[in-house]
Formats: sequence, C-alpha cells, structure tokens
Amino acid sequence: MKITIINGPNLNLLGKREPSVYGTEAFETFLETLRKKFPDHEFTYHQSNVEGELVTFIQLADGADGIILNSGAYTHTSLAIADAIAAIHTPVVEVHISNVFAREDFRHVSYSGAKCIGSVSGLGLKGYELAINYFIA
Ligand code: DQA
Repeated sequence: MKITIINGPNLNLLGKREPSVYGTEAFETFLETLRKKFPDHEFTYHQSNVEGELVTFIQLADGADGIILNSGAYTHTSLAIADAIAAIHTPVVEVHISNVFAREDFRHVSYSGAKCIGSVSGLGLKGYELAINYFIA
C-alpha cells in the first residue's frame, strides 16, 4: 500500500518541542522504525510549516491508498485544509499526538477532522501506527 504521512507546523521540532506533551522522539527516527515495521508498504512523508503547502501535499497525495494527517495548529483554524480533504478521493485519518480534548478549548475544534474518515488523539506517536494498521487491515 502507498501511504502518505503529512505533518504540519512545528512538528519538525518533535523530540525537542514541549517533550512533556509530545515526547522525546524526532519524527524522522520514528519514521525509520515505521518503515522497518511495515516493510511491505510504501511511505511518503511531508512536513511543512506553511498552510498552503499542506493543501498542496494533500492534493498531491490523492491516488495514494491512505493519508495520515497531523495539521498541528492548522487543525483548529484551516478551512483550506478541510476543503482539500473534501476535494480528494483518498481517505484521510487525522492523528494528534496529544489528547487535544484534554487541552485548551480552542483545540477541541477540528475543521479537518470533520472531513476525515476518523481520528486518533492522545496516544502519542503510536497514533500514526494505529492509522497505518487501519489502512492495511
Ligand atoms: C497537535 C495538537 C495541536 O493542537 C497542536 O497545535 C500541535 C500538535 C498534536 O499532534 O497533538 O501542533 O496536532
């Protein structure tokens, strides 16, 4: 299967950024582990801090078997990302490392999540692995 993982703003800082919330592992290290764990599947990875670039990555991933999306803070603000998800045919699973529902009220809203087939929140990086298992099952 071809699975595209798209991470949004500040997720390039995973491992260094607020480790008590987001853990101590860099995403690139985690991605290597994922690729070893799922050798029969192909993973494309994009990260951007720019909203429009995330929209483009979503459009480009149309045709993959699945998209795993963590839009970071744009989750809670971006109609453009929500529209991009609605515009494509590839199913999208939203992942949040932290439990957004246990945090500030503004994180309880997800414009993108409303257009996804499902979401995982609060299970750390394991959320990405659970999303992969959903697609490959
Ligand atoms: C996040 C949660 C968002 O609220 C936050 O802005 C992020 C990371 C998460 O993975 O828990 O940047 O998407």
